[in-house]
Amino acid sequence: MKIGIFDSGKGGTTTMSAIKELLPNEEYFYISDHENCPYGDKTDETLYEIVNANVLKLKNWGAKLIVIACNTATTKCIKKLRLDYPDIIFVGIEPAIKVATDSNAKNILVLATSNTVNSKRAHTLINENLKPNQNITLLACPGLADAIEKNSLSEIYNILDTLLKNYNNIDAVVLGCTHYSLIKNKIQTYFPTAKLIDGNDGVARYVYKLIKNLP
Ligand code: DGL
Repeated sequence: MKIGIFDSGKGGTTTMSAIKELLPNEEYFYISDHENCPYGDKTDETLYEIVNANVLKLKNWGAKLIVIACNTATTKCIKKLRLDYPDIIFVGIEPAIKVATDSNAKNILVLATSNTVNSKRAHTLINENLKPNQNITLLACPGLADAIEKNSLSEIYNILDTLLKNYNNIDAVVLGCTHYSLIKNKIQTYFPTAKLIDGNDGVARYVYKLIKNLP
């Protein structure tokens, strides 16, 4: 099957690698939408236009299943895409909040773009899954995806230092942006004992099930 995948750059390659591990024989098309990075601070209208252009390209290349390998585009656009393209199967990635709340973590920190942090979906995920004994903080990381995209180490460390240094006793960190999975090791140094969680394996398992059950 032809599988299309896109992100605002290289973050989504982490999702694609997880999918390819389970499904090595499918045909993959990846759009690294570097020139529109970051998605995290675009208005809803601009973001939909950008995302729609990627979907059209992938559809024209023959993709029947499209993975939105971007938490921001998923939380903001997937509902409308499903209505606008009923012939395409869309799979999105969301901050893996449920994985964190299902673990025995007491203090959970969710790192994501401003758009994801401000999305209704992120708050719904928290309201539906947080247990009474758990604390969760949604932390927007403006500039971080862009710094990762540019591979600017000094910017990455500046942003991480400013944002993360005041958080203690964190048991689980949810990487709610696919770009952040690329700097998992750096983030881990701020929380040496915390479990770092991203949504890539969950998405890969979901895509695998979908494809194996297709007629
Ligand atoms: N990698 C994306 C995400 O998962 C988008 C980052 C950005 O472009 O702001 O949210």
